[in-house]
Amino acid sequence: MEESRTELQVKPLGWWVRTHNCCELTLENNEQQVCLMGWVQYRRDHGGLIFIDLRDRHGLTQVVFTPDSSAEALEEAHGLRSEYVMAIKGIVRARPKDMINPNLKTGQIEVAVTEFRLLNRSKTPPFIIEDRVDVAESLRLKYRYLDLRRPSMARNLEFRSKAVQTVRSFLHENEFLEVETPVLTKSTPEGARDFLVPSRLNQGQFYALPQSPQLFKQLLMCSGLDRYYQVVRCFRDEDLRADRQPEFTQIDLEMSFVDEEGVMSLAESLVSDLFKKVMDIDLETPFTRISYAQAIADYGLDKPDIRFDLKLRDVTHIVKGSEFRLFAEAQLVKALVIPAGSVLSRKEIDDYTEFVKIYGAKGLAWIKIKDNEWQSPIAKFLSPEERTALSAELELQTGDIVFFQAGAPDMVNTALGFLRVKLGERFDMIPKDVFAPLWVTDFPLLEWDEEEKRWMARHHPFTAPRDGHIDLLKTDPGQALARAYDLVLNGHEVGGGSVRIHNTRDQQAMFNALGIEHEEAGSKFGFLLQALEYGAPPHGGLAFGLDRLIMLMTSSSSIRDVIAFPKTQKAACVMTEAPSQVSTGQLRELGLKLREKPGQG
Ligand code: AMO
Ligand code: AMP
Repeated sequence: MEESRTELQVKPLGWWVRTHNCCELTLENNEQQVCLMGWVQYRRDHGGLIFIDLRDRHGLTQVVFTPDSSAEALEEAHGLRSEYVMAIKGIVRARPKDMINPNLKTGQIEVAVTEFRLLNRSKTPPFIIEDRVDVAESLRLKYRYLDLRRPSMARNLEFRSKAVQTVRSFLHENEFLEVETPVLTKSTPEGARDFLVPSRLNQGQFYALPQSPQLFKQLLMCSGLDRYYQVVRCFRDEDLRADRQPEFTQIDLEMSFVDEEGVMSLAESLVSDLFKKVMDIDLETPFTRISYAQAIADYGLDKPDIRFDLKLRDVTHIVKGSEFRLFAEAQLVKALVIPAGSVLSRKEIDDYTEFVKIYGAKGLAWIKIKDNEWQSPIAKFLSPEERTALSAELELQTGDIVFFQAGAPDMVNTALGFLRVKLGERFDMIPKDVFAPLWVTDFPLLEWDEEEKRWMARHHPFTAPRDGHIDLLKTDPGQALARAYDLVLNGHEVGGGSVRIHNTRDQQAMFNALGIEHEEAGSKFGFLLQALEYGAPPHGGLAFGLDRLIMLMTSSSSIRDVIAFPKTQKAACVMTEAPSQVSTGQLRELGLKLREKPGQG
């Protein structure tokens, strides 16, 4: 029947002016003449009555075509389809009592259409534009412009915009200058690989995209700018995870004449102000602080989720002389007790055993504490004395399960640390809607890189050692502690920074400890070493990972959900199909030649 109607014509907007958005009208607007514009979310066609949910970024408003308000419009409206773009003029009226939708801000009213214009047609979208949509993320990313029409995605971007606005105001009020730094620049070592850009004018030479503006912000302190910030894109070519992107945004800041307390208290005020203004949440200040060593001892990770109080326990001393060789010979044996955890099935335990293997574990030992026995593949290896000691030390109760990990400290801590989080989720130990910020301090300055067989900076080579620790660089580098601090929120590192080295001598000592020769230091960072010689003030700073912060604040499961156009795990954009091949002409212009065809190497 519909096919026989004349096709609905697209018309220009003309002089029509939108009076309200689609989430604005309430009973207070009753009887008003309004003009709305947006997309057709749903059309319910009852023949003599057509209801349209009209959607824009703000929300939905029900508009209704009736023979009373306009028979002509009603006739035409049969041709409307999902995602068509339209403008309507009409009169606001109260919905009949049984039609009120209490879940919608505009649920008390509808707009009786007197006139409308179709502004554009739409093909049938590849997925329905609504929050409950259950489609592969790759399809959402391919049609990202449609995905962003979904209310939850639009809300995330709106939230992000408001958050950035709030941070900017805060920093402006605190006398920070917003300064832009170059994107085509030189490599700054932040621990990831650089993205390189070939130079056409200087063939054979490359720019690096900044992993962070670290050196520039330090130079701005040398320039006397005192307080700097920037909402800045950073680029890191590293393996991607749910909370990592190859390009991401930092709220980067630097301050002169401060120590770590100065930076941390400013950062705390900034984060508290942000949570208060955009979420009306009062964070408890000062934030909890824990040393790196304590974080590893208690939680196995340097970014502990302290929303739940489940700690790892060192039992090396109890099993040192055990018959059980695996435990007796291990450098470290740690236990994790889950109260009432013996309800776990064999299948679940097997899955956890597979899980810890990701972190290099070879297996996962466990004991279920039953009324009269210990049910376990390893109980038979433990002597009565060891059982008594474990029972007393770990305060074991009937119904508990204990997991053990034995081996090299890094592996044991990481494997059990991540298992703790998994089990915390499994046993509902992690409270929802709680934000538990935590400062982790006293990081080691350096860490040993087994592959490269040399010391590397844990943060970056510009971080100042603790007073007196500079000499340790020559004698016992692993013991030197950094004046660095990380801000952790619910198990994610959302910020990090340090007090910097501000004299050439110490900076050179640091480069030496890292095995960066004098010449190499000169060619890579000569400009910094020089700047430090012209009266560099003491300074320090920090950078927040904006995407991660917004992900946590919006309870999103991935940072991709708070970035308009993110990349996939393979660092690709499925919509624009970047990265892509370039023409031989373009390569020639840059003085480049591919070694082998992609896919052949
Ligand atoms: P850092 O390397 O710790 O410090 O980075 C600061 C914060 O940026 C976020 N972050 C990321 N977010 C998303 N995807 C990534 N690939 C990614 N990498 C890092 C994290 C992290 O805490 N110049 C120093 C800061 C300083 O010393 O002032 C720096 O970049 O939330
Ligand atoms: P096996 O003697 O290898 O059969 O191991 C006995 C038990 O110890 C099994 O339950 C293994 O999963 C577990 N296991 C193996 N390696 C480790 C380890 N490094 N730490 C803790 N438990 C382990």
